[in-house]
Amino acid sequence: KPVVLSGIQPSGHLTLGNYLGAIKNWLPLHASHDCYYMLVDLHAVTVRQDPAELRERCYEFISLYLACGLDPAKNVLFVQSHVPAHARLAWVLNCYTQFGELSRMTQFKDKSAKHVDNINAGLFSYPVLMAADILLYQANAVPVGDDQKQHLELTRDVAIRFNNVHGADKPVFTVPEPMIPPVGARIMGLQEPTKKMSKSDDAPTNALYLLDPPDTLVRKIKRAVTDLGSEVRFDVAEKPGVSNLMSILAAASNRSIESIAQEYDGQGYGKFKQAVADAVVATLEPVQARYREVRDDTEGLRRVLRDGAERASARADATLQRVHDALGFIPA
Ligand code: TYM
Repeated sequence: KPVVLSGIQPSGHLTLGNYLGAIKNWLPLHASHDCYYMLVDLHAVTVRQDPAELRERCYEFISLYLACGLDPAKNVLFVQSHVPAHARLAWVLNCYTQFGELSRMTQFKDKSAKHVDNINAGLFSYPVLMAADILLYQANAVPVGDDQKQHLELTRDVAIRFNNVHGADKPVFTVPEPMIPPVGARIMGLQEPTKKMSKSDDAPTNALYLLDPPDTLVRKIKRAVTDLGSEVRFDVAEKPGVSNLMSILAAASNRSIESIAQEYDGQGYGKFKQAVADAVVATLEPVQARYREVRDDTEGLRRVLRDGAERASARADATLQRVHDALGFIPA
């Protein structure tokens, strides 16, 4: 079976953007792929984290993976720091990635502009660790939202470069493809629809969180910025707010943008927003109903993660061994 791998940083709180851009698309893949989904705690510490909050958030996020419907019997669910091969391969790949390439990463530019007092080396080489995450599992495809495209390009470049240097007879790494959904890959903020919805550093009314109570979700959607006029038309440049709500409705209810435009054009924004709110609540209610029970069983979560780390390590260690051989490191 082909392999997929993806991950989320445990920072802030999971949003509808993370769900529609990533998790929702992970759910069916186990039927056709071997699936590895992780929490990237090593990536999270590239910005300062409060240890107690980080710990709680990791349990919250893994509980949400399960509550969204990821079955640990069918998917390998694990925490990045539990599999030492990630940090070890990242070191090697750091030596195969150019300073100039990393300087061009837009996420680095954005984050270093925001955290001017802590532009650390980890933040700079963040995409190299991400490349290691992916290449360790020989992943064929990486299901992510639109904002990870540039990191995926870099991963491919590094894999191809390493293969060219060391894989003349047999490539060391599989070169992965991004898997980006046609709708929902870039959900924007409700109050600032020209910026993506993000799980950290956002005004709470700008994002829809997976654990927001239904009345909060409805209120935020009703107050979402729309545009002048009253047409429900998909036009990101002229009508970013309405277009974003159309994307949310389309992705949450598995409909096309066109059918939504047809149904709601000429109906005004009120009825349209109500339909968006209904679809979001219907998507998140079952997740929230399962969440509490899953989260309360911390021991059960730890068992899932221990088992996941063991299965992930088996695959990751095999790749790391091949890399060390290719480099000329002598066996331990
Ligand atoms: P992160 O934690 O920022 O986001 C997790 C996933 O959610 C997607 N996403 C969105 N999709 C649609 N609309 C949005 N507004 C939105 N916001 C976020 C992201 O594209 C992502 O798929 N570097 C990664 C984590 C990572 C990773 C990996 C991913 C580390 N190693 C290996 C894949 C494979 C990140 O920070 O994602």
